[in-house]
Amino acid sequence: MIVMNRRDFLKKVVTFSLSLMGIVVFPLYFYLKPTRLKTKSTEFFYVTIEDNLPKKGVNRFKALINDKKMLVYIVKYNDEWIALSPVCTHLGCLVNWNRNKNEFQCCCHGGRYAMDGTVLGGPPPASLTRLPMEIRGDKLFVGLRLSYK
Ligand code: FES
Repeated sequence: MIVMNRRDFLKKVVTFSLSLMGIVVFPLYFYLKPTRLKTKSTEFFYVTIEDNLPKKGVNRFKALINDKKMLVYIVKYNDEWIALSPVCTHLGCLVNWNRNKNEFQCCCHGGRYAMDGTVLGGPPPASLTRLPMEIRGDKLFVGLRLSYK
């Protein structure tokens, strides 16, 4: 029979507890802790001059955003301009405007959107994203929500 005095017993309990924390608690904490919060802010990017906006229908523009080209559709809809993201809400492919059928089409899985971006058919779960627009002077700017860590 092993006889242990009170001091040795307490040492073993403390050692065991610290080991348990090291093996279980700390890794669990780092696994479950929330990732760093991202802040999002809307930044506006120059797209074109106002004279280039469509008088009717849909025009596609390229904007330069942080040295990368981004497509944006500007649509004249109900006497207003709206800016639509070309990113399909299903799995993120880029949609194309089909002038003959008067709809946006996604070639990946057949998603279809109306001129105002609402879903006409296929798997997309939501309308194309409307982007905020601003006309400053005679220039059109489109807003994007960008994430920062
Ligand atoms: S990604 Fe557009 S329909 Fe699937």
